[in-house]
Amino acid sequence: MRQRDARVFALTGATGFLGSHLMDALIRKGRSLVILGRRRKGMSLADRVAALLAWFDVKDRGALVETAEVDLLEPRLGLERHQYDVLCGKVSEIIHCASDTRFSERTRREATETNVHALPGIIGLAKDSGARYFHYVSTAYVSGPGPAPEAPIVSRTFSNVYEETKAEAERQVAARCSLQATPFTIVRPSIVYGDSVTGRSNRFNALYYHVKALQLIRDIYLNDISQHGGRKSREIDIHLDPEGILHLPLRIFLARRGHVNLIPVDYFVAVMLSVLESPRSGRIYHITSDAPRTTEELAAYCERFLRIRGIETLYGEGQNGGVQNPPEEIFNKLVRPYLPYLSDTRSFDRTNTNGLAAGFSAPDLTYDVFERCMRYAVRMDWGNGNGKSDAGVSRASG
Ligand SMILES: NC(=O)c1ccc[n+]([C@@H]2O[C@H](COP(=O)([O-])OP(=O)(O)OC[C@H]3O[C@@H](n4cnc5c(N)ncnc54)[C@H](OP(=O)(O)O)[C@@H]3O)[C@@H](O)[C@H]2O)c1
Repeated sequence: MRQRDARVFALTGATGFLGSHLMDALIRKGRSLVILGRRRKGMSLADRVAALLAWFDVKDRGALVETAEVDLLEPRLGLERHQYDVLCGKVSEIIHCASDTRFSERTRREATETNVHALPGIIGLAKDSGARYFHYVSTAYVSGPGPAPEAPIVSRTFSNVYEETKAEAERQVAARCSLQATPFTIVRPSIVYGDSVTGRSNRFNALYYHVKALQLIRDIYLNDISQHGGRKSREIDIHLDPEGILHLPLRIFLARRGHVNLIPVDYFVAVMLSVLESPRSGRIYHITSDAPRTTEELAAYCERFLRIRGIETLYGEGQNGGVQNPPEEIFNKLVRPYLPYLSDTRSFDRTNTNGLAAGFSAPDLTYDVFERCMRYAVRMDWGNGNGKSDAGVSRASG
């Protein structure tokens, strides 16, 4: 029997949003990591990880991090036999965070391959290395409508291929780990935004996408008013008031009244670390907020941040059939994949998560937190590579 004097985590998805934050936190705790990932756009995995560590300002901890370029879909993760054996000799715990996170039906094949077909290989590594735990990062949205227990999924109602493949992955993780007697946990975060304290983020999806869409629409009309005499704006009653606020009539059409469950990435990391410290096999943990925001509240945040007025939320089937003005058409087109998440009615049970440590609830998404995160996103040009300072992020993760 191999002797291991320290925990060594194999981590997938470390070049992504949540995985990179987890990598940073584990390194800061002095944990040893083997990052399993791939080269991309001509950059080796080692260079991508180094760029991310620079973004996190992690210094002198390089010795704790190793990288291994793998193909999750290949036998032995695409490694030569001896490389695989060396990996198995090191790893004592696995965190599987890699995922195809796109919602589009067009990417069904890739989503199924990455989210489902890659599981035998990475769970096989848990068996071959004798790992003491396999931790799977899922999503809170595998649960169907209504109350969502921290329990295996029974619902077959999904908003998109992403949710569907994540649900199938949960079933396979539980079945495969049980069969090979590997203890496992499943964590289910809701929608994650940047760091609530610093405002920083290295991905600008989900919440950011809506704000970015509204900023784009605002700038189209501000440009029309300042450069072209406001002809397009006048046609739909868009105007600037004396305080410099743009009056922009824009209705958001939603199927039903609901809320948006958002958590900051620092909270995701804190709960994950707690799960890693005291895991209980077979447990599912909801990493969610007890104070979800309504679309109206978020719209008010956006209005204040972008200095616009006129966003209105309308509910009920059929609203979408109505005539839309050009700003509404642009907005709905840009955020369509995210619309189901704006009127969510699930309530997430958090018994297991609350049991991890006392007082473990998510920081509130106040306007101050929202503004801090959005200011950072604007400064980083929403991750388009034209941002100021913080170099290396889009290179590393893009
Ligand atoms: N972000 C959220 O709001 C949120 C909410 C709930 C749950 N989650 C879950 O949290 C996990 C991480 O999400 P995220 O937002 O960090 O995602 P992300 O930023 O899109 O990153 C995805 C990660 O998975 C890797 N990956 C994707 N396909 C791969 C493949 N075929 N082979 C190897 N690696 C692959 C990516 O590697 P490359 O960089 O090489 O592409 C990247 O490291 C996922 O399991 C997701 O379902 C996220």
